Amino acid sequence: MAAYKLVDHTYDVVVVGAGGAGLRATFGMGAAGFKTACITKVFPTRSHTVAAQGGIGASLGNMAEDNWRWHMYDTVKGSDWLGDQDAIEYMCREAVPAVYELEHFGLPFSRTEDGKIYQRPFGGHMRNYGEAPVQRACAAADRTGHAMLHTLYQQSLKHNAEFFVEYFAIDLIMDADGSCRGVVAINLDDGTIHRFRAHQTVLATGGYGRAYFSCTSAHTCTGDGHGLVARAGLPLQDMEFVQFHPTGMYGSGCLITEGARGEGGYLTNSAGERFMERYAPTAKDLASRDVVSRAMTVEIREGRGVGKGKDHIHLHLEHLGAETLELRLPGITETAKIFTGVDVTRDPAPVLPTVHYNMGGIPTNLHGEVLRPTKDNPDATCPGLMAIGETACVSVHGANRLGTNSLLDIVVFGRAAALRAAATMKPGASHKPLPKDGGDLAVSRLDRLRNASGDLRTAEVRLSMQKTMQNDAAVFRTASSLGEGVKKINEIQATLPRLKLSDRSLVWNSDLVEALELENLMACAQATITSAEARKESRGAHAREDFPDRDDATWMKHSLASIDEKGKVTLDYRPVHTYTLTDEVEYIVPKARVY
Ligand code: FUM
Repeated sequence: MAAYKLVDHTYDVVVVGAGGAGLRATFGMGAAGFKTACITKVFPTRSHTVAAQGGIGASLGNMAEDNWRWHMYDTVKGSDWLGDQDAIEYMCREAVPAVYELEHFGLPFSRTEDGKIYQRPFGGHMRNYGEAPVQRACAAADRTGHAMLHTLYQQSLKHNAEFFVEYFAIDLIMDADGSCRGVVAINLDDGTIHRFRAHQTVLATGGYGRAYFSCTSAHTCTGDGHGLVARAGLPLQDMEFVQFHPTGMYGSGCLITEGARGEGGYLTNSAGERFMERYAPTAKDLASRDVVSRAMTVEIREGRGVGKGKDHIHLHLEHLGAETLELRLPGITETAKIFTGVDVTRDPAPVLPTVHYNMGGIPTNLHGEVLRPTKDNPDATCPGLMAIGETACVSVHGANRLGTNSLLDIVVFGRAAALRAAATMKPGASHKPLPKDGGDLAVSRLDRLRNASGDLRTAEVRLSMQKTMQNDAAVFRTASSLGEGVKKINEIQATLPRLKLSDRSLVWNSDLVEALELENLMACAQATITSAEARKESRGAHAREDFPDRDDATWMKHSLASIDEKGKVTLDYRPVHTYTLTDEVEYIVPKARVY
């Protein structure tokens, strides 16, 4: 291994990632008096939270009566009973103060005529335990994530957090006692390697949509936190649950917010039929995402898709009128024109279910502490390590997330992590000496990739992985597609040692970081497809054609996938929390899920 000089930094807390979750944790830690660093591979306001559109869920009741208990019920039902009800109770109760906190921080929400925060309907959010849709999504037009990210970044600058922008985390520093002691990162600007020592390392690196060929996620969504944790020998939870958003734009995969249907948009097939009425008689186009995506897929498969290839569906917005579209949905009106060529004030937009969100991730408790489950204690934690936001699996989304609960998740659990740190740590506490090999894992990984002299380009291997995931771990799954997919992904994983980066004349300047990202994505892809092959039931976003029913007796449990250094995946399971946080609400007993 070449000798590298490491630049050392010492903090109380280091946060990896500067999307909504990372920023909320960063300034919460700063406000609690901790010396805090936030390292991020892109400038904070370019993080993927910026792309969230439709709103943040909270039962403010500004448009009609609402109640956090109804929100909790909808979230549990949306999760298809895989969510942990203690964590779901916490999130739905905290939603209301979390939104008012954002308002006081200056988030420019859209307003009702009397000046309250505007709320729109969203899929799966209902009044009175499933009776009819309710307006719960607090929106800033269709740019809610953008507004939120800028608000949170401004708050972060008010506290003394230090930002390390365009730094890429390579590996965690783990101690022999199993605790995390910090993280090693590369400065993408000059190639220097930095060792961040911290009492608490908080992973907020987002999802891994880019393991698939077509997704609404930014190119930066490469499962970096997942990779760090997997290489540290910790498991990933419920990775088989991948959400397809019903309205990705046909061709580009760019998002058309569910808020479009919340404002009255609807889907039709080639016969012009509003087919969702057949699949979800009460909620119709506002059923939860897994239900709508499956219905669209069935329509296409049965020959009722639209377009030349009969391979997509129409989303109608033209009846809403140009004025409403300009007021409520200006962003998607513009992007639909750019990416599909359609003027939605006149014509329907072509849409297709598209990979959008990962329900699974790094298992944590509701304080954001990462779990290292043991046989005796499935809720045991890994000291010094937290995960929040899409990279984490708390689990509040279970087998299927409701729209608007992701923006909620990031602020509620970003804040919870800071509260937990404030309750359990003291600012400025002294650090133990680092383990002798602290940072070696990261440096040898970097060294190996920099000098990789095989015969395959990073982009080639990535494309094979993405195509396999797209074909074999799709909206509908079977034993044969998943079995084939596991085999292919393992074969593709085995080609990683054949990457070629050593010939500098062939290497583009982003190739090293793309190779690091590819290793992270590959761990996610392997965990996803292996967990999916093993789960022999249908639940939420995991729809097995060979096992069409939910099987609570056998499968109401969280999957845990561990990956060794050779890429071998081992599965285990831990129980779902079948209890609430307080006795102010009763455990919601599993039942059939109809909309
Ligand atoms: O459809 C949307 O606006 C996406 C929201 C979400 O994923 O929560």
